[in-house]
Amino acid sequence: MTKYGLIGAGMMGQEHLANLNLIEDAEIIAIADPDAGSLNASRAMMQNHPRHGVTYYDQYQDMIEKEACDAIILATPNFTHFGIVQDLAHLDTAILIEKPICTTMEDARALAVLSAKAKCRLAVGLEYRYMPPLARFIRRAHAGETGQVRMLSIREHRFPFLPKVNDWNRFNENTGGTLVEKCCHFFDLMRHILRDEPVRIYASGAQDVNHLDESYDGRTPDIIDNAFVVVDFRGGARAVLDLCMYAEGSEQQEAVHVVGEQGKLEVTIPGADVIWSPRDKSGPFVEHVDTPDEAMRAGQHHGATYFQLQAFHQAVVSGTPFEITVEDGIRSLEMGVAAHRSLETGQAVTLPLDDTPYKT
Ligand SMILES: NC(=O)c1ccc[n+]([C@@H]2O[C@H](COP(=O)([O-])OP(=O)(O)OC[C@H]3O[C@@H](n4cnc5c(N)ncnc54)[C@H](O)[C@@H]3O)[C@@H](O)[C@H]2O)c1
Repeated sequence: MTKYGLIGAGMMGQEHLANLNLIEDAEIIAIADPDAGSLNASRAMMQNHPRHGVTYYDQYQDMIEKEACDAIILATPNFTHFGIVQDLAHLDTAILIEKPICTTMEDARALAVLSAKAKCRLAVGLEYRYMPPLARFIRRAHAGETGQVRMLSIREHRFPFLPKVNDWNRFNENTGGTLVEKCCHFFDLMRHILRDEPVRIYASGAQDVNHLDESYDGRTPDIIDNAFVVVDFRGGARAVLDLCMYAEGSEQQEAVHVVGEQGKLEVTIPGADVIWSPRDKSGPFVEHVDTPDEAMRAGQHHGATYFQLQAFHQAVVSGTPFEITVEDGIRSLEMGVAAHRSLETGQAVTLPLDDTPYKT
């Protein structure tokens, strides 16, 4: 059995527990969270899974002192990731850090250095790559179906940010900003689909609708709820992100399109159709991509958490490299940080940033 610990047992931590329960040779031995509500909710979940002998902690420092975990899932608020990883770095364990890897370029630079010399092995939870319809779409794009991809567009039209424990996600200082917190997934997809790095980014966005009537200790949330972000890539492809977080009536929450000389490939979520529309108008050809029921039931992310954990677990067991690395985590953060700098200045921002740990 591979022994797992969980740090942070809120919404996402519980989704990881539900999915780890589906991995037969994974045993959850410890869960740490200072919030009694989260700890009790995870305890209630785990009671139905007697295969695991879980010890519960309200401080992760106690957990790592007493438990020898082969792997740890870190699902705490974004601004805590860096400090906790520093505390775990000396452990001989694999760590899956939820996205975003951290919230500032300063921490990113320190993390790049730390990950190179740490005893622990780090992976990053940019799980959209594993959503079955998206994974199929990416495989087909990489197979060259459209010819060289010239344009990539990603649309997310969704519901507002959900309430979180202690409302941490209402403020940029805790999340890194919406274009980091939410959109690191999409910037990671852009890099992954295009297999290229961005050279310039321009963003226009604002907080126009959401959370304006909320108050936390007298402060109104400052997180943006809509944006267009345009990204130029080194190889000449251009990409755009269209984000709206007050579109809860939208039937298809996400859509990704790539277009090349041969035609257009698109995917919709939750529709799960991959649609190929060649320029000769012989299409469209629709492929529906099913996700196993148990993967759908174990989370809110259309099976992404399930397949991400399968890949992470396999790498832990076999000692092979993680598919999504610290560099992927930092580069997706960097694009979000750059997009926020563009919002602030009204100017396009050149990438890589001056304060990046990666110069090429
Ligand atoms: N991959 C995805 O698509 C996805 C989706 C949602 C959230 N997330 C990420 O997961 C992380 C957690 O988000 P969430 O939605 O579960 O938030 P949440 O507020 O529901 O849960 C966070 C939990 O962490 C706990 N916590 C805070 N400080 C801690 C500490 N020092 N030690 C242990 N526990 C601590 C809180 O008490 C809370 O129970 C965030 O980084 C978020 O960005 C990822």
